Amino acid sequence: MQTIETVSAFRTARVALKGRVGAVFTMGALHEGHLSLIQLAKASCDHVVGSVFVNPTQFGPREDFTGYPRDLDGDLRAFETAGVDLVFAPHPEIMYPPHFQTYIEVGEVSHALEGSRRRGFFRGVATVVLKLLNITQPDLAYFGQKDAQQVAVVKAMVRDFNLEVDIKVAPIVREEGGIALSSRNRYLSASERKGALVLYQGLQAASDAYEQGERSPKVLRRTVLKALIQDPYIDVDYVSAADVATMDELHEVTDQPMLLSLAARVGKTRLIDNVILPRSLENIDDLSKILGGE
Ligand code: PAF
Repeated sequence: MQTIETVSAFRTARVALKGRVGAVFTMGALHEGHLSLIQLAKASCDHVVGSVFVNPTQFGPREDFTGYPRDLDGDLRAFETAGVDLVFAPHPEIMYPPHFQTYIEVGEVSHALEGSRRRGFFRGVATVVLKLLNITQPDLAYFGQKDAQQVAVVKAMVRDFNLEVDIKVAPIVREEGGIALSSRNRYLSASERKGALVLYQGLQAASDAYEQGERSPKVLRRTVLKALIQDPYIDVDYVSAADVATMDELHEVTDQPMLLSLAARVGKTRLIDNVILPRSLENIDDLSKILGGE
């Protein structure tokens, strides 16, 4: 495996990769969720490229950019063991040199949910993802369902800018007990980890209700919320039942697939999680089609 810090050296190494190339972009602190993306990429591609870059432009001024978990050596070992061919690990000055001044603003799909809570977040994500796609030139790029709105934003950009890349979406990987894997789980104390279990329990209670025929977005949101507010350590940011393609909040009873999502603080750590209803859609083929639309 080669680890490369500059754009020109990466381009030179990339040219040597023949056949289908899959990309897995990360901010490091790799966990089984990232590794599942690499495994899926390896199953369908001849080569896999990865990236490690904690992107400053997607963090707000009061967010955790400085404290974000960084472990480049561990990440590179994990990438190598997983069978990645090339890793792009640039310094911030490579991605954002002095006088950098061009940003991508994706429209409506970026405005609700995370976009309304984290000003500038999707502008930073779309900008860095476009740069990473341009630098690494993959045929397929793999993202996780956990960041469902990010998938919709990236897909909108890919469509609107006619980018030649296929976006693939992998189901959430969960710890025993159900906590969705996230690099930010490293911040949780043992007691907060117990609190975090409630997030998935809430989503599961709603998906059980859905299984039994409940189709009211309002009732499903309320079911999640009811579970969350029972834990005094959980500070709920939002619970949403949204259209999987547009991220618009749903209000009417519907049989359309739904993204049931939440954001909450457990102690000082802000976590997000979601399920797609019906849960049978949580597989790479369906998720890749429905999240953010085709
Ligand atoms: O999902 C992430 O880890 C990041 O948002 C991404 C896609 C690597 C862009 O910085």
